[in-house]
Amino acid sequence: MTDGTANETRDSGAASEDGSAIEGLESDLARELEQQSEIESFDPPEQFKAAAIWSDPSVYEEAERDPLAWWECQAEALDWAQRWETVLDDSNPPFYKWFLGGRLNASYNCLDRHVEAGRGDRVAYHWRGEGGEERDVTYAELHCDVQKLANVLKDRGISAGDVVGIYLPMIPEVVVAMLACARIGAPHNVVFGGFSPESVKERMEFSEAKALITVNRARRKGKAAPIKEPIDDLIGDVPSVETIIVIRNTDDDAPMTEGRDIWYHEAIASVDDECPAEPLDAEHPLFILYTSGSTAKPKGILHTTGGYLTGAAYTTKHVFDVKPDSDTYWCAADVGWVTGHSYIVYGPLLNGLTSVMWEGGPDYPSKDIWWEIAERYKATILYTAPTAIRAFMKWGADLPGKHDLSSLRLLGSVGEPINPKAWLWYRKVIGGERCPIVDTWWQTETGHIMISPLPGITSTKPGSAMRPLPGIAAEVVDERDGKPIEEGQGLLVLTRPWPGMLRTLYREEERFKETYFERFGSETYLVGDAARLDKDGDFWVIGRIDDVINVSGHRMSTAEIESAIVSHPRVAEAAAIGQNDEDTGQAVCAFVTLEGATSDGGDELMTEIREHVGTRIGKFARPKRLVWAADLPKTRSGKIMRRLLRDIAEGREVGDVTTLRDPDVMKDLEQKFGGEEA
Ligand code: WTA
Repeated sequence: MTDGTANETRDSGAASEDGSAIEGLESDLARELEQQSEIESFDPPEQFKAAAIWSDPSVYEEAERDPLAWWECQAEALDWAQRWETVLDDSNPPFYKWFLGGRLNASYNCLDRHVEAGRGDRVAYHWRGEGGEERDVTYAELHCDVQKLANVLKDRGISAGDVVGIYLPMIPEVVVAMLACARIGAPHNVVFGGFSPESVKERMEFSEAKALITVNRARRKGKAAPIKEPIDDLIGDVPSVETIIVIRNTDDDAPMTEGRDIWYHEAIASVDDECPAEPLDAEHPLFILYTSGSTAKPKGILHTTGGYLTGAAYTTKHVFDVKPDSDTYWCAADVGWVTGHSYIVYGPLLNGLTSVMWEGGPDYPSKDIWWEIAERYKATILYTAPTAIRAFMKWGADLPGKHDLSSLRLLGSVGEPINPKAWLWYRKVIGGERCPIVDTWWQTETGHIMISPLPGITSTKPGSAMRPLPGIAAEVVDERDGKPIEEGQGLLVLTRPWPGMLRTLYREEERFKETYFERFGSETYLVGDAARLDKDGDFWVIGRIDDVINVSGHRMSTAEIESAIVSHPRVAEAAAIGQNDEDTGQAVCAFVTLEGATSDGGDELMTEIREHVGTRIGKFARPKRLVWAADLPKTRSGKIMRRLLRDIAEGREVGDVTTLRDPDVMKDLEQKFGGEEA
């Protein structure tokens, strides 16, 4: 096998047939990628390998020989105020504890130690605003602002253990807010800016947040959307929120409630700028992040300090092969998702990296804005999601082609399975065939990357996340008996605790056990994804096995969407399913029955219901397709059979309908759906 090369096809074992023609793909390029799709794997390019931190596969064996010693070694990359006594306490599974007796502080590790080592002037973030503004924020500046905001929080009576909500756009202050919380041991609860104020309220209620940090307005595609007003309309119902800190993100004013609300710029102007980082217990909660599960109520994933930071630092360093002195790293996610937590904030700062932070989306002010930014800051590493890559493919290779992307040396993908065609396009058009691609599989729950190539070691197969990282143990097991499968498809499980794992679901211990550890016992973590192992033992993650759907890498629960639709006064019942979608991976399709005699609500009501879902959850959750139904297929006990609805939506032959209370319902729906399609 040679440099960056093409290893000939044996049986490729691809997880997904990638039949979808990508419209607008230039024909020469299309032909070339077509030929490449015959290639099974690509070796690490020689040049990359020669400079890589890890290029010897013996790291896998070393970790396997003594996993606990391995993790201890990774934990040593952090600065501990007090060293741990016990690496892993597994006396009460599935409640595992790591680095017991150890004490450390997340914000100290992200900031102080770099400043103390004389690296305060290093840029932590090259921030770029939607309007073209630029701000270089150094480690020293973050260090200063974090201490001030931590003091403001303290002045407002917030102390270790109190939850603080954060609802902010992609501005440097979001990092300041998270680290100020971490500095005083107040777990942060970040809500993605695309969620509606209604969702913010719910998440503040569930976590009994004492404070919320937000903005007056958020800039979105050239407009300034009011944030504080809609928050005000709802937050009054959440008695625990005693303080709202408002960042003046645009020149506009905002309504302020005396006694409760304070302006960020005013508060930090008059506060002491020194706030020593509190050494906290390794198991002290660092953050809660709500994510979708099988029911309408989101799950509060709880991560703690020592283990999470160990995992975030370790994976950032080795999966992205980072060289803090020369790399400019860009994770183009939003801080509001776990990817942003681990790979925009904690992982990069722990490693002392310089990152790019972009306020906006991929298509505003122009569809080549990402490439302009990558060129401008000479990004060396880019980490994004397949849905973005597919959009770029549609927009054409000319747009990235207008920019000098030769600084890039490594590309990453996350959030959903990447189809081989998008992988090949990414490699060729963005990576100039010289950048290894790391397709990283993980979840909010796992805290950090779990299955991924190591770029200086692994020969990568387009579409496969390849192998569990050193220290991680994963298997694919038979759905029926839980026995490991050597080759073939089954359920993905993690068979050994790892430091960054979630510790529980916030205030829902039973649900934690049920969701992840009931099916195969308290020592086997059920991921919730189906996967396939090929003959070489490489993993191909296929997708969710539960009612969680993945739209553009946004994780949503069908139950959550159904409950939002049903809360509309004219709706009687709704069933939401995920439908395959060329652009977004999956799209939401909702079947809706109305109150009263009519079953057809017409276009206006359709728009109204979609908007209603937007208001309840967030715009990204609006069903792409809405179908009026006179009735829904139900079993005799009244359970909606989503499987049959999925058959209809995918245009498959409808499965067994004999258990239905009223089989005629299906005929009606099939006709309707066929009609819609036409
Ligand atoms: C999916 C995002 C295939 C998977 C970090 C998982 C992936 C869910 C990949 C977690 C990948 C994430 N290949 N599928 N590389 N990465 N997924 O919690 O279904 O938002 O369970 O975390 O995304 O989504 P979450």
